[in-house]
Amino acid sequence: MNPPHHPYRSRRSASALTGTIAVPGDKSISHRALMFGALAVGETRITGLLTGEDVLRTAAAMRALGADVTHDADGTHGEVWRVSGRGIGGLTEPEDVLDMGNSGTAARLLCGILASHPLFAVMTGDGSLRRRPMRRVMDPLAACGARFAARDGGRLPLAIEGAREAMPLDYRVPVPSAQVKSAVLLAGLNARGTTRVEEPEATRDHSENMLRHFGATVRVEVAGHGRIIELDGQPELKAADVVVPSDPSSAAFPLVAGLLVPDSRLTIPAVGLNPLRTGLFACLAEMGANVAVRNRRLEGGEPVGDLDVSAGPLRAIDVPPERAPSMIDEYPVLAVAAAFAQGTTRMRGLKELRVKESDRLSATAAMLAANGVRVEIEGDDMIVHGTGSPPAGGGSVATHMDHRIAMSALVFGLATTDPVTVDDAGFIETSFPRFIELMNGLGADIRPA
Ligand code: S3P
Repeated sequence: MNPPHHPYRSRRSASALTGTIAVPGDKSISHRALMFGALAVGETRITGLLTGEDVLRTAAAMRALGADVTHDADGTHGEVWRVSGRGIGGLTEPEDVLDMGNSGTAARLLCGILASHPLFAVMTGDGSLRRRPMRRVMDPLAACGARFAARDGGRLPLAIEGAREAMPLDYRVPVPSAQVKSAVLLAGLNARGTTRVEEPEATRDHSENMLRHFGATVRVEVAGHGRIIELDGQPELKAADVVVPSDPSSAAFPLVAGLLVPDSRLTIPAVGLNPLRTGLFACLAEMGANVAVRNRRLEGGEPVGDLDVSAGPLRAIDVPPERAPSMIDEYPVLAVAAAFAQGTTRMRGLKELRVKESDRLSATAAMLAANGVRVEIEGDDMIVHGTGSPPAGGGSVATHMDHRIAMSALVFGLATTDPVTVDDAGFIETSFPRFIELMNGLGADIRPA
């Protein structure tokens, strides 16, 4: 049975958006904290964990593999999550199918872990995840000795029989993907010898940082735009406390709303500012956005800062392809900002957007086109023609089970002339619980349609 749809509509409210919005924990770091905690010896305590559905799937999978995962009280932001790990190689065979829901990160990273554990597991996901390519992890992981069987085209559900004695991999990642890099590194944790991963373009390095934080030896060498990463196999991972910063990819939505809704002034505290995640901030600065970073500091080993945003005019920019890995999840909402900017914005090299929770290149273009914006896709580039005035709006947006399309469209409708409707806001729960309530708390008008 398909879950019910939750259509919502956002409209321009009479007032500006004002106040402070606490954005939930970083999704990438949250998945990894639970996974590394499950592979470590001792109790890992996590604060600020994202409690969106994607991360809860990872928590459930780690429990199914024998780790003890608990949380205080209701488990919301500020609560402590505790993971009692099994040690590397110590996970146990799950009794049932592992359902990773909507989460590509959970599914692909888990493939890496399972590849070097001598056990059998079956993995599935929702309609969106079952369409996404898994061969990008299955192929390299098979070389360490794991055996996979999957649906045609390398799609979930898949079955995996992990290697008894995993071989360390030496792999050049063919697409810029932190998920693939991380899957190979995770497999390498239980392989004897050194695992080496070469990435032609640097992608988010949360796995490398957190592996070190848990006591593994990781060497990173910068090579052109990319990096070479080496991990010494079979370390003893020791439980460590993790403080999860607010997710810059989630902060992007109130941030862009604050820029577009006239007279708005917002503060977004403790946002993760890892340099491999901040491409959107660079773009917005080039567009002339009023975003100031205050109180830069390190929290749990990651740089964070408080963002102050105020509304103002934006100008079009040309976004170079090499910026894509540092803002891969932010293009839909950048395209929304571009629709309000003066001039033509070109975003280059967006091939990877086609294999996200939806084909985000098409979904983003369709969102804008349905609401009076002139937009084109040329090869892997997206071109948005802004006039410097608010687009018409008035259209409906198909979200294709994609949380970021839903949030981008709802932000869009807060500043278009007429309201924007989305067919299903339900998937926002995967990454940003209480998004609508928090936005409305700032003065937004987002309601069931
Ligand atoms: C992620 C990596 C990115 C990103 C995703 C989270 C991660 O995916 O889009 O939301 O946590 O490693 P790719 O590795 O497929 O680019």
